[in-house]
Amino acid sequence: MSGPGAQAPDASRPADTVRRILDPGSRPHPYALYDQVRAAEPVWMDGAHPVVVFASHAACASVLRDPRASNDRRHALMYGCQGPGSGAGAEAGGDESAGGAVDAATPRAELPSFLFADPPRHTVLRRLVAPDFTRDAARRLTGMIKDLVDDLIDDMAEQFARGAALDAVGALASPLPVTVICHVLGIDTGERGWYRTRSSLLGRAVDPYPAFVGAPAPGAAERERAEAELTAFFTELAHARRAEPKDDVMSRLLAARPDGRPLSDTEVVTTCRLLLNAGHETTVNLIAGGLHVLLLRPKTLAALREAPSTAGQLVEELLRFEAPLQIVHRHAREDMEVLGTRIRRGTTMVLLLGGANRDAEVFSCPHHLRTERAEAGRHLSFGLGAHYCLGAPLGRLEAELAFVRFAQRVVEPRLAVEEPPFRPHVVLRGPETVPVHAARVLGRDLPWGR
Ligand code: HEM
Repeated sequence: MSGPGAQAPDASRPADTVRRILDPGSRPHPYALYDQVRAAEPVWMDGAHPVVVFASHAACASVLRDPRASNDRRHALMYGCQGPGSGAGAEAGGDESAGGAVDAATPRAELPSFLFADPPRHTVLRRLVAPDFTRDAARRLTGMIKDLVDDLIDDMAEQFARGAALDAVGALASPLPVTVICHVLGIDTGERGWYRTRSSLLGRAVDPYPAFVGAPAPGAAERERAEAELTAFFTELAHARRAEPKDDVMSRLLAARPDGRPLSDTEVVTTCRLLLNAGHETTVNLIAGGLHVLLLRPKTLAALREAPSTAGQLVEELLRFEAPLQIVHRHAREDMEVLGTRIRRGTTMVLLLGGANRDAEVFSCPHHLRTERAEAGRHLSFGLGAHYCLGAPLGRLEAELAFVRFAQRVVEPRLAVEEPPFRPHVVLRGPETVPVHAARVLGRDLPWGR
C-alpha cells in the first residue's frame, strides 16, 4: 500500500479493499476490486474526513445528476484542499489581472477551471467554449484528423519495415490527440512532447490519495513545477493573443464579455489549460487502451477492417470496457441522500466510473467485450449531468478514425509483450506502452470506406 498512514490491507474490510485500488499492482486489473466495492456499497472510509465510495451504476449516476453534489475543488478533500479558500491544485493558480467578475465574491487567484467549479460560474465559462466542441465542430476536423492519422501510420511503416517492435502509444495514441487539441486551441504543435509530459504529471493530481489514505499523490513537487510551467506558457500566449487576436479559442475568450466585462487572465488561462489537458490525456488512454484490447482480440480487429462503419459502436463499448477516466468525485454541499444513504454536508463522494461500467444490473456479462451490446451507450465514461464531457464528440471521432485506419493499414499486427505496463495514474487509466509487431503497412491511398 502506498502513502503514509496506510495499514496492511484486510480483504474483509471494504475500506481496505478501496485502498488496494491505489496499489501499483492493481493497475492492470482493478475490476475485481471495483466489484467488491460495489457489493459492499456504500463504503465509508475511516480517515479524518468523511469519505464515501460508490461503484454501482445507479449510485454514480444519481450523484452525477444531483445539483447538491458539488465539483468546486476549493472545497474538495480529494485534492488535499482543506475547505473554502484553499485553491491549491492542478487547475488552480495563475496570475491575476483586471477583468470582469464571473463570481465576484471569490478572490480570482483561487479560481480553478470550470471543470472544478459549480454553476453559475461553471455555466458561464462552459458556454463560452461549447461552440468549439459541438458534434458539427468535431465533424469539420475529420479531414485534418484523417491526414494526421495517415501521417502517423506512414511513420510506423518505416519502423515495421526494419522488423522492429513499435510502441503504438508513442507512435499513434499519444501524438494524435495532443496535435488535434493544439490545432483546436491554435497553439504550436512543435512542442507536443513538452505538453504531454507536463499534463501527464498533472494527471496524478486527481488520484484519490487524499480521500483514501489522507496523503497527497506521489510527485507533488514535480506536479507543482509542471503546473507553473503550463500556466506561464498560457499566460504568455494570452498576452500575445490580446496584442494580436487570431481565429482561435483563446482569442474568443479574451474578447468575451459574459457579464458585460472581460474574463480575468486566470479564467482564460485555466480554461485553455483545462481544454489542453482534458482534450488529450483521456483520448490518449482511450486509443492506447483500445488498441491493447483489440490486439488481444484479432477477430474484433478483423471485423472492424471488414465493416469500418461499426467503428462508432466499437468505440462506445471500448469506452465502457476500459474507462479512460476511472474515478471522479463530488462534495456534498448540503445534506443529501444517495439511494437511501444519508450523506452529510461536507462529505466527499468518490465515484468509481470504471466500476459503474461493469455493473451487471445494467450491462449483461459486464466483464466481456461485446461490440454488439445495445446498452453500451449507458456507460458513464464521459460522466453525466452538468459536467458531461465537453469533448465527447471529438474524443469519439479521434478514436474511431485511429482504430479504423490501424485496422485497415497495419497488416497482421500482434502484441510484442504479454502484458504491457500500465501508467502509474489511478484515475487516468491506460497502458504506458503498447509494443506491436506487424508484417507491413499498406499505403495511404487505400479508401477509408466510412
Ligand atoms: C475520449 C476520451 C475522453 C473521456 C473518456 C473524457 C471523460 C470526461 C469525463 C468523465 C468528464 C467529467 C468529469 C466530471 O464529471 O468530474 C469530462 C469532462 C470534460 N472533458 Fe472530457 N473526456 C474525453 C475527451 C475529451 C476531449 C477530446 C476534450 C476536448 C477538449 C474534453 C474536454 C472536457 C472538458 C472541458 C470537461 C469539463 C466539462 C465540464 O466541467 O463542464 N474531453 N471528460
